[in-house]
Amino acid sequence: MVLDHRSAFRASVLLACVIMCGNVLCPVAAYLYSNRYAGDQVFRITPSNDEEVRVLKKILGHMKVDFWQPNSATLICQNATVDVHVKRNDTRGLHARLKQEHIDYRVFISNLQKEIEKQTGYRSSRKRRSESQYDYEVYHSLEEIQSWMFEMNRTHTDLVDMFSIGKSYEGKPLYVLQIGKRSRHQKKAVWIDCGVHAREWIGPAFCQWFVKEAINSYHYDSVMRRLLNQLNFYVMPVFNVDGYDFSWTTDRFWRKTRSKNHKFHCRGVDANRNWKVKWCEEGASSHPCDDTYCGPFPESEPEVKAVAKFLRKYKKRVKAYISIHAYAQMLLYPYSYKYATIPNFHCVESAAHNAVTALYSAYGVRYRYGPASTTLYVSSGSSIDWAYRNGIPYAFAFELRDTGHFGFLLPESLISPTCTETTRAVKAIASGLLKKCETDRDKFPYI
Ligand SMILES: *[C@@H]1O[C@H](CO)[C@@H](O)[C@H](O)[C@H]1NC(C)=O
Ligand SMILES: *[C@@H]1O[C@H](CO)[C@@H](O)[C@H](O)[C@H]1NC(C)=O
Ligand SMILES: *[C@@H]1O[C@H](CO)[C@@H](O)[C@H](O)[C@H]1NC(C)=O
Ligand SMILES: [Zn+2]
Repeated sequence: MVLDHRSAFRASVLLACVIMCGNVLCPVAAYLYSNRYAGDQVFRITPSNDEEVRVLKKILGHMKVDFWQPNSATLICQNATVDVHVKRNDTRGLHARLKQEHIDYRVFISNLQKEIEKQTGYRSSRKRRSESQYDYEVYHSLEEIQSWMFEMNRTHTDLVDMFSIGKSYEGKPLYVLQIGKRSRHQKKAVWIDCGVHAREWIGPAFCQWFVKEAINSYHYDSVMRRLLNQLNFYVMPVFNVDGYDFSWTTDRFWRKTRSKNHKFHCRGVDANRNWKVKWCEEGASSHPCDDTYCGPFPESEPEVKAVAKFLRKYKKRVKAYISIHAYAQMLLYPYSYKYATIPNFHCVESAAHNAVTALYSAYGVRYRYGPASTTLYVSSGSSIDWAYRNGIPYAFAFELRDTGHFGFLLPESLISPTCTETTRAVKAIASGLLKKCETDRDKFPYI
């Protein structure tokens, strides 16, 4: 297997560790990402009135911070927390300004580099790369995820089929796994994508976990067996392959795709603002350097275009569209671009309720749920609105753990509980498709 730069480097450091301390957990001596996050901090700020909102937008707008939540300064609003990653040279200035303006804040990550090292920098001599048994409780590089997909396709021919739906901007294949018993009948299907936003690493970890869980529990879990007999799942573990790879090798907090813009130095488009529904209006930016950049035109990103094409082709079969994001602990459904109630609200609301109840039953973790516009914020060009407009009656976006303790740096020790509870929620949504919803006969939605 060809090791990428960083993995090769990590492997050699690991080797040194093993020599020095045997099997004991051993801190990696060198820094990930060339120590570029040393001293950076993540602030949690809560503006409590309109004046503070105005001042905060101004301060953060000038300071080129990396928005974690919400995704841009324009989305800041009263009493909603704002999480921002601030470069080390700007932290003192921001502390001073917030104190001076009496705006409520705290620092929830005081040294970002340390937190990154904690998430990925410590390794025992365990089987990370010996693929005898794939480790679902660590984050994996794109290359590892793709090898794993080939392996699943090779070893589970009865339940798995792997194919590519196109190529990314950088020419990487966009792989999808079809899970479920083959049938001559046109089975209903559920689409699940993960890793639309590069830095949300728990997403791809979930998609892999879900596939493993579906295949393993087929033999002993009657609910899963019924689902796989009667439905197909189309699982895309890494939607934004170029961005994910870039967040792995170069910039841990990269969010967008990697397409080049000819007029600006910055790259990439927000793959969840690039869909053809009220494209580039509220909640999206037309500036290429912003994290919520909608792109030059709808479906400009080859990844978005490929998925849209696939879903258009199979829209008669695909009854649920599920997109996995982080972080906020929410389950969202349309509309995202406007405040209004969807025509089949009753069915969708009850599916969401069942899903968060199932999720809660695992570890007591609470999720908020509701229309994306009112529960999170208004954003145009999102994939759930597009899926819904194209006739998929159940369109959901999950925002997985947590609510801002680790943010995008969810520790590997939380992969298992997070994925276990989310699997329950997804199973609940899929099970609901096998029952007929009373308003199924209602005329279908147009937005
Ligand atoms: C925000 O919080 C303050 C103080 O708790 C409260 O007075 C105000 O009504 C809240 N505003 C909104 C829009 O919820
Ligand atoms: C931060 O400040 C140091 C010392 O003043 C300077 O050398 C460095 O270039 C600055 N870094 C950035 C990213 O501005
Ligand atoms: C997956 O396996 C099938 C055979 O079961 C094969 O035809 C197909 O090409 C494989 N997919 C990929 C992407 O290699
Ligand atoms: Zn996201």
